[in-house]
Amino acid sequence: MSLPKIDPSLTLNWKALEAHAAEMSDFNLKTEFIQNPSRAKTFSLEWDGMFLDYSKNWINDKTKSLLLGLLEEVKLGEAIEAQFSGDIINETEGRAVLHTALRSDSEEPIVVDGKNIAPEIEAVKLKIQKFTDQIISGQSTGYTGKAFTDVVNIGIGGSDLGPAMVVDALGFYRNHLTMHFISNVDGDHVFETIKGLDPETTLFIIVSKTFTTQETLTNATTVRQWFLNSAPEAAVSKHFVAVSTNIEKVTGFGIEVDNIFPMNDWVGGRFSLWSAVGLSIALAVGYEHFQSLLEGAGAMDKHFRTASFENNMPVILACLSTWYINFHDVQTEGVIPYSQYLNQFATYLQQAVMESNGKYIGRHGKAVTYRTSSVVWGEPGTNSQHAFFQLLHQGTTLIPCDFIGFKESLYQNQEHQDKLMANFFAQTEALMVGKTKEQVLTNTSDTGDLNQDIAPFKVFEGNRPTNTLLLDKLSPRSLGQLIALYEHKIFVQGVVWNIYSYDQFGVELGKQLASSVLSDFENLNISSHDASTAQLMERYKR
Ligand code: F6P
Repeated sequence: MSLPKIDPSLTLNWKALEAHAAEMSDFNLKTEFIQNPSRAKTFSLEWDGMFLDYSKNWINDKTKSLLLGLLEEVKLGEAIEAQFSGDIINETEGRAVLHTALRSDSEEPIVVDGKNIAPEIEAVKLKIQKFTDQIISGQSTGYTGKAFTDVVNIGIGGSDLGPAMVVDALGFYRNHLTMHFISNVDGDHVFETIKGLDPETTLFIIVSKTFTTQETLTNATTVRQWFLNSAPEAAVSKHFVAVSTNIEKVTGFGIEVDNIFPMNDWVGGRFSLWSAVGLSIALAVGYEHFQSLLEGAGAMDKHFRTASFENNMPVILACLSTWYINFHDVQTEGVIPYSQYLNQFATYLQQAVMESNGKYIGRHGKAVTYRTSSVVWGEPGTNSQHAFFQLLHQGTTLIPCDFIGFKESLYQNQEHQDKLMANFFAQTEALMVGKTKEQVLTNTSDTGDLNQDIAPFKVFEGNRPTNTLLLDKLSPRSLGQLIALYEHKIFVQGVVWNIYSYDQFGVELGKQLASSVLSDFENLNISSHDASTAQLMERYKR
């Protein structure tokens, strides 16, 4: 079954939401909380160590019911089943979308092209487990017999962002191996990373689903050359492994079949950290923790697939985001984790969200008439409070934000944790309640030498919407839940917007032009380019 092709803007609920947004124009969160003492409870959800409070949003019961009605009209239920059952829902690339199969503990066969893929998934997981155990324990060594100390992941996009984010996020659970990530074709990035490394004790993982990506192949070639400056050719097999769907290209590159960790085309690059692309994660934290990460995501998959839409966390997050993007003209959304470990979470989400849903052609092959993906961005709190929060509080743009925090810290320092979480709660409260001119004028900390002219600058309108996600503790399992939560949110929005979330043709044009510019550098041929580009190329090559 393919995904339903329904223009959401023609549905009854979409039209009702438009009218409802207009009738909500003077909606005020502070007033709503005063009028409805059970608002916080009504608009909250708890599931498996995660608590979502979405009461600080511009919604009431009617909003929620219209949004849920929209999901029925676009047949979200059918779409979810189509995805989990391995239907070819990535129609433009002719592929199933089954990153969920990688973390499933179901005994049910998962069939792709008439074949149950479960045994193959298990075989790759076993290979990862065996390999990582041997490297971590020092049983497998480098070519001179020394244990490995460093691992370098060479990949870009989904072959870098997911593993890099998770390795960073799980820093607390890491072992002795030092992890490095080379992604940019910028040679300075490459040489800066390898300059202190010892070829005798460094393992390189070349990660590329297609094994055709210019950046990754260039970086891998450079790194291998650097390695061979001191090591014999025969040592390559002990130090270089690859993760790819393209076995032929990998062997052509000089990597032995035994050193290839296969992946499949039913896993999209930006959803691939659960596959062998997560090899660097398993090396960094050990296989057991990698397995817990998968289990957390698997649990979220079950929740997403089975919970009613009104009690379904990814669905609720998707509804809220869609409400703002399509009915309040929101263009950007923030994700603010109150954990330094999640430093790279927003960067990771940028690819997951924007490469998936940054599209203007609908599933019916025509341009859509409404907004699709917002711009997603963010940085950890409290650092971001001292950077861009001024704009969140007093700027002219409406930016709904997700705040993500953990009840328990990992090093158990309660003083720090209380201060961190005090900021976490204070910010969403401040964004909502704001501060009136009367409060400014009567507040002793503001008054001092304050005169009436200065008061407006200290007024906060408030009424700025946020979601709060409160998790028990950052662990491999809860991180798996969190990532899968956002993955499913992306899927739901793609279904609503009637777009194909799992292709990425938008990155192709730039890639093609880069190859043509590169070959024109070589032939010194600039005349085929526009005058501006030709002028710049000429200055560069002069
Ligand atoms: O930039 C586009 C993209 O195709 C991403 O979707 C993907 O994650 C990345 O390039 C890397 O691709 P590969 O793993 O095939 O090298």
